[in-house]
Amino acid sequence: MERLLIQNGTIVTPDEIMRGDILIVGETIARVAPEIRADDARVIDATGLHIFPGAIDAHVHLRDPGATHKEDFTTGTRAALAGGVTTILDMPNNSTPTTTRAALAEKRAIARARAVCDFGLVIGATAENAEEINGTRTAPRADERGKNNLIRVPPRSSASNDELGAVAIKLYLGATTGDLLVTEFDPVYRHFSARNDLPIVVHAEDNDALNFFAGASRHPQKRPAIAAVLAVARVLAIAETTGRAVHIAHLSTAREIELVKDAKARGVRVTCEVAPHHLFLSTDDEERLGAFGIVNPPLRAPDDVRALWQNLAHIDLVATDHAPHTRAEKESAKPPSGMPGLETMLPLLLNAANEKRLSLSDIARMTARNPVRVFHLAHKAEIAEGFDADLTLVNLDAEFVIQKPFETKCNWSPFEGTRGRGKIARVILRGREVIADGKFFAEPGNGREVQRT
Ligand code: DOR
Ligand code: ZN
Repeated sequence: MERLLIQNGTIVTPDEIMRGDILIVGETIARVAPEIRADDARVIDATGLHIFPGAIDAHVHLRDPGATHKEDFTTGTRAALAGGVTTILDMPNNSTPTTTRAALAEKRAIARARAVCDFGLVIGATAENAEEINGTRTAPRADERGKNNLIRVPPRSSASNDELGAVAIKLYLGATTGDLLVTEFDPVYRHFSARNDLPIVVHAEDNDALNFFAGASRHPQKRPAIAAVLAVARVLAIAETTGRAVHIAHLSTAREIELVKDAKARGVRVTCEVAPHHLFLSTDDEERLGAFGIVNPPLRAPDDVRALWQNLAHIDLVATDHAPHTRAEKESAKPPSGMPGLETMLPLLLNAANEKRLSLSDIARMTARNPVRVFHLAHKAEIAEGFDADLTLVNLDAEFVIQKPFETKCNWSPFEGTRGRGKIARVILRGREVIADGKFFAEPGNGREVQRT
């Protein structure tokens, strides 16, 4: 088996930052120590570089199958690697939504053939599929209720979701790109009360509120904070009653954070994520970006952005919500919502760390350890013996300019022209160097599906 020795780098974990060497044997980290000698190993000299666990982006839309003119599994996962992301979780709002076992199997076959990085698949909730994707028993019995009338946490991994092989269920409470939408209490509650331990990822915008404000002129006013707040409050109440793990996608307002903090303090099984565009853009950028700034949930007021930064300690992860649309689509009379993000998340975070807005360990926590914990991914994201050798080596001092060409098929970014410090130097996926000095060594088919613990 090939042996690779990474020497003299600075290893970044959520717990510490230390000088050290990493020995990789085959696909796995074999040893981490202050100094390792291995005469037979190929050596990568990481002097001057910081070594992060490969980032895990828990929220991407790769459009494959169905809209491969925007992105496909190869271009999307190349964008991931270019951005230091070694694992992506793909969302189900394809033009034929991924809401059945058959659709999931079809996407799995495509991803296996085309992906250049590792991937997990998320299945979509509909009003009808609670039983198909969760298994058959959905109604909690009275004798399963614990203290305070809460349902006891069900046993991990029922047989049904092991067969399914999805890492999570996505529930859209508000309409956005694609047809996935569940608004009625009955199916929402049936998904939550099912005997299944897959986390339910929620797009939390209240659809009645969205309809009410749909006539507003500007996009952020069409989808105001109250829509997000109502949906988060509703879903937290349901998660609390049923005991099911819920993950709030792209949380974007101050009030949502307060609701999540309060629920966490009471022991509700809730986690949440924030998207880079909600951290690094605001309604102040709306006019400049025009349709390229249209995204759901929308860009928020600077006060909300400040609240996100102030509460990073309560936010479990950063995920891009990479949602490519072509330039022509964005420039059309009815521009779709969404923006790409895979190539820019890590550089923007590294630059923010250089500016002391967060720490390097925060980045490792929010882009690697926590995604693995929330979605129970096996042997990923720790720089430690026995874990997959997924590593992103960065030069914190090197300057970047965000500019074309991009790997994403849409070939634009809302951050074009942004400069900063913190460049991705090398990316290692399960022991193979897939990016070195701007060159790609990854082939379609290299990506493997993640396993759940
Ligand atoms: O802006 C968005 N675009 N928000 C979503 O929820 C979906 C995404 C997409 O798939 O285009
Ligand atoms: Zn999304």
